[in-house]
Amino acid sequence: MPHTPGWPASPSVGPIVLRPPRLRDGRAWSELRLRNERWLAPWEPSSPHGWSERNSLTSWPPLNSALRSNARRGAMLPFMICYGGRLVGQMNVSNVVHGALRSCTVGYWVDGAMAGRGIAPAALALVIDHCFGAVGLHRVEVDIRPENTQSLRVVEKLGLRREGFYERFLDIDGAWRDHVAFAITVEELSGRSIVSRLASLPPDPQWRTRR
Ligand SMILES: CC(C)(COP(=O)(O)OP(=O)(O)OC[C@H]1O[C@@H](n2cnc3c(N)ncnc32)[C@H](O)[C@@H]1OP(=O)(O)O)[C@@H](O)C(=O)NCCC(=O)NCCS
Repeated sequence: MPHTPGWPASPSVGPIVLRPPRLRDGRAWSELRLRNERWLAPWEPSSPHGWSERNSLTSWPPLNSALRSNARRGAMLPFMICYGGRLVGQMNVSNVVHGALRSCTVGYWVDGAMAGRGIAPAALALVIDHCFGAVGLHRVEVDIRPENTQSLRVVEKLGLRREGFYERFLDIDGAWRDHVAFAITVEELSGRSIVSRLASLPPDPQWRTRR
């Protein structure tokens, strides 16, 4: 059976830790997803099932199993994003191809209540370094709807290169949506860590006083 090099893994920087999903994430994952429907739905794949149904507590065990089995098969690296020890989002490395291409596509989301702290750029930087290191890939791609100014800022902060424009590329939020493709190849980092491109790391969370 094929196996993903570099999996499982838990890369971290400052208060950000990426780690594999686990069964006991269900309650926190479902609470985040249900609370963030309006924040996330415009950027998520279309589905015949309603938001509540596909993000309920009971939908987590089969999703967790599917993510873990895709990781075992070498097709993806599904990371949970933790900030100061709390689950705040997901970063999925998908379409992992080895051989001559050695490429992948990364998708992500972060709790709207935690937006604006640089969590996604730090998590994406960790994933890119991991893909170029332990996973042995050569190229990482991120595809973003042109309307998604928040996500465009994430790739801008890391200096990913704009590669092209895909018309009617993905079935998102009920329609085929255009996407801008961004990518980076290993040569562009000249052996350095992309984490060093971040202007700053997310601040340490002050959970006791803030929440
Ligand atoms: C895209 C996303 C992951 C960015 O995560 P993040 O951790 O907030 O990233 P950053 O902190 O770097 O913020 C990026 C930009 O979002 C904008 N932003 C920040 N806080 C915001 C808020 N509360 N509401 C709306 N936009 C906000 C700012 O323009 C910011 O850029 P700036 O730092 O130059 O001001 C997050 O906005 C998200 O999950 N959005 C919904 C799902 C999604 O779009 N996924 C990506 C699909 S390609």
